[in-house]
Amino acid sequence: MSGFSPDWLALREPADHAARNPELLSAVGAYFAGRHSLTIVDLGSGAGSNLRGSYSTLPNRQHWTLVDHDEKLLQVARERLAAWADETQEQGEELVLTKGEKIITVDTRQADLNKDLEWILGWQPDLITAAALLDLASKRWLERFAAALASQRLPLYTVLTYDGREKWQPEHATDARVLAAFHHHQHSDKGFGPAVGPNATEISAEAFRKAGFAVSIGESPWLLGEKQRELLLALAEGSAGAVLETGHLDKASVTEWLAARRDSESCMIGHLDLWARPV
Ligand SMILES: C[S@@+](CC[C@H](N)C(=O)[O-])C[C@H]1O[C@@H](n2cnc3c(N)ncnc32)[C@H](O)[C@@H]1O
Repeated sequence: MSGFSPDWLALREPADHAARNPELLSAVGAYFAGRHSLTIVDLGSGAGSNLRGSYSTLPNRQHWTLVDHDEKLLQVARERLAAWADETQEQGEELVLTKGEKIITVDTRQADLNKDLEWILGWQPDLITAAALLDLASKRWLERFAAALASQRLPLYTVLTYDGREKWQPEHATDARVLAAFHHHQHSDKGFGPAVGPNATEISAEAFRKAGFAVSIGESPWLLGEKQRELLLALAEGSAGAVLETGHLDKASVTEWLAARRDSESCMIGHLDLWARPV
């Protein structure tokens, strides 16, 4: 079981879809324009948000394989996709969804991206995708990932990778210390070895360029205000919990920071999207 609850993924989904970089999304669509159908593998799929955020730009017939190590999240993905589609049919293990003019078949596979990466890429889809995943990985895993994708000439589209920038309003005297401690926590092992955290896109871009890919990067920040108050509060609480775990700040300072953050008017959380294709 991972630390990502279905409720947290549902809470962030509208902000994730609004933040997604539109130019990169269009570029991915343009790359596959003229194709009638496409096979896609989504890594660390959680409850299926990335499919719902990407499908509209891709060809009319899509086959998605959602991969996660959390079996419960994969079950939630099936339920949420069935509720989201205009029509849903079950064909054996697969879901067949109709959404507007798209027909999307979906299957789910439980796998560990650390142990099973080469096996998964061996399915040879047309496109690999991932959302909010790369910052959990280690440098070593990202280099292995780039090498494996290069050997199969597989393109990669990732979105919502945390980039370390945060701007909360109004500012608070402890913001910088809290952010430094949060970044420290971001580098802890999330199952792939020491995590790259906010350096994920920079490290990935370098690895993919070295492996012979053309790489484009676009910003996809969360801009959270009054309408996203529930997400903003959950984010502040999550950050405070992570900071406390580091022991870099005492409990009173973190409690004071969190109290101020509960009254925040807005915040910007930096993310980057990446589109890497073999040349
Ligand atoms: C931040 S969540 C993002 C989920 C989803 N992509 C989204 O955007 O809503 C990261 C996801 O990666 C999955 N994950 C983390 N480590 C994994 C691993 N080693 N193998 C497979 N899945 C993993 C988690 O279970 C979780 O669903």
